[in-house]
Amino acid sequence: MKILVTARLSDDVVSLIEQDHEVEMNRENRPMERGALLAGIAGKQGVLCSISDRVDEEFLALAPGLKIIANFGVGFDHIDIAAASRRGIPVTYTPGVLTDATADIAFALILAVSRRVVEGDRMTREGGFRFWAPFHFLGRQVSGKTLGIVGMGRIGEAVARRAAGFDMKIVYHGRNRLDPADEQRLRARYLPLHELLREADFVSLHVPLTTETRHLIGLEELRLMKPSAVLINTSRGPVVNEAALVEALQEGRIGGAGLDVYENEPELAAGLSGLENVVLLPHVGSATIETRTKMALMAVENLLVGLRGEQPPNCLNW
Ligand code: DGY
Repeated sequence: MKILVTARLSDDVVSLIEQDHEVEMNRENRPMERGALLAGIAGKQGVLCSISDRVDEEFLALAPGLKIIANFGVGFDHIDIAAASRRGIPVTYTPGVLTDATADIAFALILAVSRRVVEGDRMTREGGFRFWAPFHFLGRQVSGKTLGIVGMGRIGEAVARRAAGFDMKIVYHGRNRLDPADEQRLRARYLPLHELLREADFVSLHVPLTTETRHLIGLEELRLMKPSAVLINTSRGPVVNEAALVEALQEGRIGGAGLDVYENEPELAAGLSGLENVVLLPHVGSATIETRTKMALMAVENLLVGLRGEQPPNCLNW
C-alpha cells in the first residue's frame, strides 16, 4: 500500500514500513507546507502524521482509500477525529512513552523560572558576573512550595512524583477526582480550579486541548493567582489566553511563566519575548532521543496494524 510519512523518521524505523509498503516521506527536518501535504496524501492508504499537520475534511477528502491515520504524538487536537470516524478511519496516537520527558521539561521550567537560570546564563556569558553578594541575583525557592497541577493524567502524575522529591505540597484539579488511594500515593489534595489558583506557588498545566479547556486560563484566572506565582504550560498553547498572560506578566500580577507551547505556534504573542520573567522553549516536551525513538516505533506499529485492517493498539476511535 502507499503510505505518506509527513515527518522525517530514522532509516531504521522507516524500513519497518518499507518491508511491505511503498513510502513517500518528508525528508526535511521541518513540517510539510499545506500544499505539499495535500498533494502528498492524494491516493494514499496510510498516513503517519505529526502534530504539525492539520488533518481535516479537506485532507481526508483527498484520500478516499485511507485506512489508518497514525499520529506521531500524544496530543490529537490537530486531527478531526469525528470526520475520520465518519469515514471509518481509525486514528491512533502515542500515549505513555512521552510522559517522563514532558514531566522533566515541566520541572526544568519550574526551576529555570524560579532560579533565573536562563537570565543567569546570559549575564555570565556576557561578562556580567563580577562579584558574589548576599542579595545578588536572588530567585525563588522551589522546595517546600505548593504546586498546583491542572490535569492529573499520566503527565500530571509524573510531575507530582517529581515534586514529591522537592518536598512540595501538591494540590490538583482535573475533570475527575482521583480515588483516595491515588491521592494518598501522590500526596495530592483535590481543589476546585479557582481555589487551586489562589493557593499554588506554581501552576502547571497538563490538560489536552478541547473546547472545554481552550482559554481555561484567562484574565480572570490569572487575577486569582498570587503575585509571586509562576505559570507553567507544557500542554497546548491555546489552553492559556496568551494576550492575557502577557498583560498579567507585564503588570506584575503574577511572578513569571515557563512556556513550551504557544497559542499560535510557532508565533509568539506580542510582548512575550521582551519579558524577563519568562522562560520560552520551542515545544520540546517530548524531544529526547529515547522518547522520540519510542514514539516513532509506536506510531509505526499502530500504522502497520491499521493497514492490516485490525484494531491498532493505541486507537482513539475504534
Ligand atoms: C505531543 O505528542 O502531543 C507533544 O506535544 C509533542 O510530542
